[in-house]
Amino acid sequence: MVPSNKVIAIDGPAASGKSSVATRVSKKTGFLHVNSGLMYRALTWSALRADIDTNNESKVIDHLNSIEMECIKSNDSLLLHINGNDPGEELKSEEVNRSVSVVAAIKEVRSELVKRQREYLLVSDIVMEGRDIGSVVFPETPFKFYIDASPEVRALRRRGEGGVDDLIERDKLDSSRKVSPLVIPEDAFVIDTSEMNLDEVVEKVLSELNQKGLIT
Ligand code: CDP
Ligand code: CDP
Repeated sequence: MVPSNKVIAIDGPAASGKSSVATRVSKKTGFLHVNSGLMYRALTWSALRADIDTNNESKVIDHLNSIEMECIKSNDSLLLHINGNDPGEELKSEEVNRSVSVVAAIKEVRSELVKRQREYLLVSDIVMEGRDIGSVVFPETPFKFYIDASPEVRALRRRGEGGVDDLIERDKLDSSRKVSPLVIPEDAFVIDTSEMNLDEVVEKVLSELNQKGLIT
């Protein structure tokens, strides 16, 4: 790790606003925006396309080892290509939503993807969003946020985007898995955004980063 490169970690449950906040914080700071959830989604998408039973752990692990997951920088964020294919909006499909938490619970999948997530810091300052960024991937960063909202508000937000996503089931699996479950890191700045619009949340995050001396 390049000691001078910095990480802003943004964790939280599904549809709490992580991506929207991370996008805005990345614009303000110039840090590279990395959505770690897309890596778990891309693997799930690829396994489903290859007709792999996502409950079969060893098959999923073999599949991860057999594919090329390439990051393409597009404007200020990153796109993932699998074996040269761009999954695009399919990463957010109902099928991927239904299986991604099972794939993300596999220990070997996590250790490999966490290794790749840490490599981003070698090239840039980053804003990384996910479930275990402040707790496991970059526990040493002083810039940790946990973005929350009530299940009802999150369900409404996701519905507003279209698509089918059983948030309650995904939250349950993500919070109860043995390896790196979704937790609130002890030293995270927690924001309940249930009654806040995006501008207000971003303002709160930036004000905390300002207090910590990261931005002016
Ligand atoms: O955008 P949304 O919050 O709905 O999900 P996401 O961030 O794209 O993550 C999709 C799934 O990947 C989550 O439900 C987790 O199962 C998994 N994930 C994880 O386990 N660890 C991360 N750091 C990021 C995502
Ligand atoms: O990344 P994550 O799944 O946590 O959430 P997101 O994709 O950033 O946000 C889900 C939806 O909620 C988007 O349509 C956002 O515009 C919306 N949102 C909101 O209405 N109010 C907020 N405070 C944050 C997000």
